[in-house]
Amino acid sequence: NLGSGIGGNIETAWAALRDEAAGCTRCPLYKDATQTVFGEGPVDARLMFVGEQPGDQEDLAGKPFVGPAGQVFDRALGEAGVDRSTVYVTNAVKHFKFEQRGKRRIHSKPGAGEIEACRWWIEQEQMLIRPKMTVALGATAARALLGRTVTISRERGRAFELPGDGGMGWITVHPSFLLRLPDEAAKREEYARFVEDLRAAAAAMD
Ligand code: URA
Repeated sequence: NLGSGIGGNIETAWAALRDEAAGCTRCPLYKDATQTVFGEGPVDARLMFVGEQPGDQEDLAGKPFVGPAGQVFDRALGEAGVDRSTVYVTNAVKHFKFEQRGKRRIHSKPGAGEIEACRWWIEQEQMLIRPKMTVALGATAARALLGRTVTISRERGRAFELPGDGGMGWITVHPSFLLRLPDEAAKREEYARFVEDLRAAAAAMD
């Protein structure tokens, strides 16, 4: 409904939100990151994905999931029959947290305080986009959406109601988890499970 009056207003409100997020100082991560990496995708998306935080390449590009984890995500989405251009993709934490080691910037896990500080943005994104289904990619995203710690293995792979007016939720692993698996057979198996989760989450909306 992008061409309609309502769609147009949401688009404008979303752009204002993104511009506001560009100047976010809600937690100290803005000091060392290159830029805020806000969510991306159509404001009328029915399906929303939440990752952890931008990585090195996302920090430089200003877009979510464009680095190695993004490539796994894109491939899995495609195999699940979901076109990335139709979904909204964002992160629980919108600045890259890292440790500088020589020339390399090594990813650090966001802490509870940073997740909590950044939750405000996800809530705004949820209110504007009103996705039917929101998929948490990994524990940080699940924590941001549910406001409590989540054990992925216990809670993945089924639809549930998100708190408030958030629509349906679904929990699965983070694509980086797949990249870190040392064993090729385990990698293949976990990747297939991930694709199946994405397919089932999309199907659960209908
Ligand atoms: N990992 C994430 O969680 N988000 C990104 O945008 C990139 C990597």
